[in-house]
Amino acid sequence: MLRPSWLVQSKVGRLVLPLIGLLALSLLAAPGTFAQSALEPAGPVAQMQHDLFMLVFWLALGIFVVVVGVLLYVVVKYRRKPGQGIPKQTQGNHQLEIAWTIVPILITVAIAVPTVRGAFWMAEVPEGDSVRVHVTAHQWWWEFEYPEYGIVTANQLHIPTDKVIHLTMESADVIHSFWVPNLAGKLDTNPGKVNEMWFQADEPGIYYGQCAEFCGIAHANMRFRVVASEPDTFDTWVEGWSQEHAAEVPTAAEVGQVDRVARGKEVFTQRACIACHAIAGTNAQGRVGPDLTYFGDRTMLGAGLVPNTPENLAAWIRDPQAIKPGNFMPALGLSDEELDAVVAYLHSLKQ
Ligand code: CUA
Repeated sequence: MLRPSWLVQSKVGRLVLPLIGLLALSLLAAPGTFAQSALEPAGPVAQMQHDLFMLVFWLALGIFVVVVGVLLYVVVKYRRKPGQGIPKQTQGNHQLEIAWTIVPILITVAIAVPTVRGAFWMAEVPEGDSVRVHVTAHQWWWEFEYPEYGIVTANQLHIPTDKVIHLTMESADVIHSFWVPNLAGKLDTNPGKVNEMWFQADEPGIYYGQCAEFCGIAHANMRFRVVASEPDTFDTWVEGWSQEHAAEVPTAAEVGQVDRVARGKEVFTQRACIACHAIAGTNAQGRVGPDLTYFGDRTMLGAGLVPNTPENLAAWIRDPQAIKPGNFMPALGLSDEELDAVVAYLHSLKQ
């Protein structure tokens, strides 16, 4: 009788189980399963890299099929039969040797030519209308500065569609790697050295990015989002920054809400918050932590960790380590009244 342990203990089981695992993994990784995938390119740079990947993939698959096919054929056809002596000995075969030298050279050239051409194409930022963004990677969040617009934001990179996004990037501490698989391959951010890349998004949407270089305890929680919108929407977003900043008390419907927001601003600007965080239009000019201007417009909290809801924000401020262990934000010991007000204030910071 077959017991379940048979599958783990038998030779067949030991061969089959990993295969089932691999199959499950490949199904999981199939296009369409994850939003964050280099197999679903959403712009010209990602498309070129994807095409290159597919070229190598199909060539490799072809080689695999031919090599394994010939191997199986030979193993079966020329296996030792009962009563068979030593087979005829041969040495060397010029035609075969020439063939298996030339064919790999041709395959290598077929891969090398588009690879080198693609590398040069990517290295050259296209001329013309582009948006410049300076990326600074921090343990464990992303700072996005738009030098042309005087905008600094964090963890949410706003870009227009159909425009070249020209990125320069460096790190404030250790080596990180900037990666938005649907838009472009990864690029390291280094302390003291500026790297450059570009990409472009064809369609409006949210593209998921993350740090792709181990950079310490919260490496896996160093995510970000690229929000691509129509050029008009993007321009409106940019213009919003040069107008009167939302840090002013907004005109909320109830007086109570206005009071809470005003109280929150008071707490924020008088407590330790301003040592690390900046909010345009206030005395908060700290550069250690993420810039919180228009924080209310961010969809996520803690570099892509949890949705930016009042409950999550309150939990975050009360005990940041509980949500994202290792991050550098201390618990400030605010009273419930102060906490409630600060949450109301931060969520009022909208365009
Ligand atoms: Cu930053 Cu990993």
